Amino acid sequence: MFNKINSTLLLFSICFLSCKEAKKENTIQNQEIEISLKKSYNGDFLIGTALNTGQIKEVDAKQTTLITKEFNAITPENDLKWEQIHPEKDTYNFEVSDAYVAFGKKNNMHVVGHTLLWHSQLAPWVNEIKNKDTLVNQITKHINTIAGRYKGKIDSWDVVNEALNEDGTPRESIFYKLFGDESYLELAFKLAAKAAPDAELVYNDYNLWKPAKREGVIRVVKNLQAKGIKIDGVGMQAHWSIEGPSIEDIENSIIAYSDLGVKVMFTELDVTALPNPWELDGAAVEQSYERYEGDPKMDPYVDGLTEEAKQKIAKRYEDIFNLFLKHKDKISRVTFWGVNDGQSWLNDWPINGRTNYPLLFGRDNKPKEVYNNVIALKNKAK
Ligand code: G3I
Repeated sequence: MFNKINSTLLLFSICFLSCKEAKKENTIQNQEIEISLKKSYNGDFLIGTALNTGQIKEVDAKQTTLITKEFNAITPENDLKWEQIHPEKDTYNFEVSDAYVAFGKKNNMHVVGHTLLWHSQLAPWVNEIKNKDTLVNQITKHINTIAGRYKGKIDSWDVVNEALNEDGTPRESIFYKLFGDESYLELAFKLAAKAAPDAELVYNDYNLWKPAKREGVIRVVKNLQAKGIKIDGVGMQAHWSIEGPSIEDIENSIIAYSDLGVKVMFTELDVTALPNPWELDGAAVEQSYERYEGDPKMDPYVDGLTEEAKQKIAKRYEDIFNLFLKHKDKISRVTFWGVNDGQSWLNDWPINGRTNYPLLFGRDNKPKEVYNNVIALKNKAK
């Protein structure tokens, strides 16, 4: 009798253990099916994407699934810019911005506000302002209204975007001209800190790998810090190409900004594979090059990337993410400037109507080979 009970117990425990193993195996398999950018880089830095209006409104269920699976941070590509959200002096459009914030909260994402003060995509009425006092009043109303509305909901603000020239001197925007100096940055950061005390406040710009522009950022950050004005991070937009900038220049900037005691984030990452008419300076959106439209030399991959181009892009993204991993202690977020290649601004800049491949997901919303390269880096790192 005793032996019988023993053998039954033995049988039961073998069954129990093998079922447990099977469940574990199945769980592991599930995790493999569930692999994603945000899971792979969990604990290193947030992985974000820029959303266009359709994606904010969840028009395409496939894209919504992709966005919520792969990313844990979002940025509005255009819908919180002054021209969109505050088009007339006493008119605000909050329909899309409310939907954007709600989408982020619903999906437990880090929600970025882009951008409170930028000389481009300003509402036309702002460009008509002729004196400093009026501009101060309007900037104050703008920031108090918008940052105040999303207090506790927007986690990070690009408070000021692109205030510097390529040589690090102040950009002579309407703000600089009417203030007569860079003190508009102090006003913007002070207002944002008061209206949204829990939000991370960021200075955002492109080409911040350039030594001269790096010195400009250091000047701006140190000035705010010296006046006791809150600034939490520097946003390096990272509109890069397969040719440059050098990993060394990017690394020197990561270290320099981190040494200021602020977070470093890569806020608009994309990698263009297309030839530019000449060496262009970053994302100065004012530039346009109609004369090159339709020139096949400038649009070589209309029917798809060559193997060589694919390899170059993959190697570039691997080098970039290896650098990010090396400095993950300094980097809080890496945001791609768009979900898929089809939505990228780089299909129309600097030349309209081209076919570019700057992101990790294709026009079919499927991960490209380069996506696997970026994911694989983490497996190698283990
Ligand atoms: O909203 C109008 C629409 O009514 C009109 O029918 C349509 C066709 O003309 O244009 C629409 O406006 C476009 C807007 O995007 C919204 O789609 C503008 O023409 C177009 O120029 C604008 O481009 C945006 C660009 O900023 C403008 O500066 C890009 O989508 C956006 O990706 C890009 O993002 C900037 C960052 O905010 C700051 N860093 C640089 C980055 C690249 O320029």
